[in-house]
Amino acid sequence: MIIAVDGPAASGKGTLSKRVAVHYALAYLDTGSLYRAVARDTVIAGGDPRDEDAAVAAAEKIDPDTLEDPGLRARGVGEAASIVAAHAKVRTALLAYQRSFAKQPAGAVIDGRDIGTVICPDATVKLFVTATPEERAHRRYLQLIDGGVQVTEDEVLADIRRRDERDQGREAAPLLKADDAHLLDTTNLSIDAAFKAAIDVIDAALGRTGSAS
Ligand code: CDP
Ligand code: CDP
Repeated sequence: MIIAVDGPAASGKGTLSKRVAVHYALAYLDTGSLYRAVARDTVIAGGDPRDEDAAVAAAEKIDPDTLEDPGLRARGVGEAASIVAAHAKVRTALLAYQRSFAKQPAGAVIDGRDIGTVICPDATVKLFVTATPEERAHRRYLQLIDGGVQVTEDEVLADIRRRDERDQGREAAPLLKADDAHLLDTTNLSIDAAFKAAIDVIDAALGRTGSAS
């Protein structure tokens, strides 16, 4: 069983995916952390995220054991990640790892931007999680403030809009709802309500009756 979860920045897809993975006892992969790690490693090696060759060199050496590094969640890293993610060769370098993760016997929940469209087009269930840019900026602002970062909500909204534009506008695997993905607009949903809505969709797709808890 593969559950593909895509959506824009701070839509709540990571929070939702982790709970869904626990609920169905599936492994979980946050593919955004791969692109964040490529951006981090490119800069550590003295390269520029805009330089495709430098970013590919980092992508080819990515160490899955470094994806939990809290530094990956820093504000500037998301921006740099969206820059390296626009290089087609970087995406190709990360493809095999994501596909092999998806194929593990336990099954998987995988979240990102292109999981339902490119990485796992045959996923068992696809979700596309959204919320308005203002609501997403508010959520990310609260996360950053909580982590001690000094930033205004307007600055976070500008970051989110710039990243949305880059992720939707790029040629290589743009952020796009797959035709067969279920749209989940969480703008007015609590985390619990979004989780219950997701479980209902997944259980219906699996032919089970609702069991959210
Ligand atoms: O957590 P947030 O939604 O802010 O970002 P993320 O999921 O960690 O992704 C960081 C960046 O990586 C995104 O803005 C995308 O440019 C890129 N990304 C991608 O291109 N494809 C994926 N499957 C996942 C992330
Ligand atoms: O992974 P992504 O960047 O899409 O978002 P996230 O980091 O999972 O969630 C962003 C923030 O929104 C977290 O602090 C969540 O607690 C919060 N949130 C949510 O995930 N879902 C809601 N329905 C409401 C808030």
